[in-house]
Amino acid sequence: MRRSLVVGNWKMNGTLASSELLAKGIIAGLSDNNADIAVCVPYIYLPRISELLNGTSLSLGAQNVGDKVSGAFTGEISAAMLSEFNCKYAIVGHSERRTYYGDTNVSVAERFCQAQQQNIIPVLCVGETLEQREQDQTFAVIDAQLDAVINLAGIAAFSTAVIAYEPVWAIGTGKTATDEQAQEVHHYIRQFIAAKDQTIADKIQILYGGSAKPDNAKGLFAMPDIDGGLIGGASLDAESFLKIYQSI
Ligand code: PGA
Repeated sequence: MRRSLVVGNWKMNGTLASSELLAKGIIAGLSDNNADIAVCVPYIYLPRISELLNGTSLSLGAQNVGDKVSGAFTGEISAAMLSEFNCKYAIVGHSERRTYYGDTNVSVAERFCQAQQQNIIPVLCVGETLEQREQDQTFAVIDAQLDAVINLAGIAAFSTAVIAYEPVWAIGTGKTATDEQAQEVHHYIRQFIAAKDQTIADKIQILYGGSAKPDNAKGLFAMPDIDGGLIGGASLDAESFLKIYQSI
């Protein structure tokens, strides 16, 4: 049995004060439901939120990680820096990074490797745009996104990674993939991994992301290949994030 996981992605929202309140609100409502839970917070709030999460079952993550070990890379944050603040996870390849900041399949693969070198679990985001879906390119896009990582890191690296299927057309748009649409792609991803390593495919957590909300989470999480969610907007409110977590 795979353990489920719900990850909040706070993106570039909030203040230090509102972030503290949000973290405290989530911690206060945590229940033991046999699933893991984490929040990926803005870099600059990691030290403070790390203190608040210490000793709780809410884990910490970053929203990205540098693609190099260290050096003259202005504005980047290394995996070693993240590990100083107990980051368990780092999102890599989020579509907003790919679209607005030029992250490529190759640089995402490098970030994935950097995270793992510091024992940080990469949450690798994959997914197609609306145009790609309409042109029947969904699986080809996902193949290329996964292959770039497999080429650099090897399939074994997926034994300590999480994949998030995030159809770009569903992110922040209020348009969720239907349970069946999401399941179809999750199943495809698991089969893609299984063709290279069945054990890893059976074990890897594949999360759904894209306008997941308290009222649609249960249906999505009930799908056999959906192991939880990567939650953006709805993770900014403790109550709705906890409701999603409790839908597992
Ligand atoms: P959303 O974002 O839940 O606001 O659609 C999901 C994500 O981008 O990770």
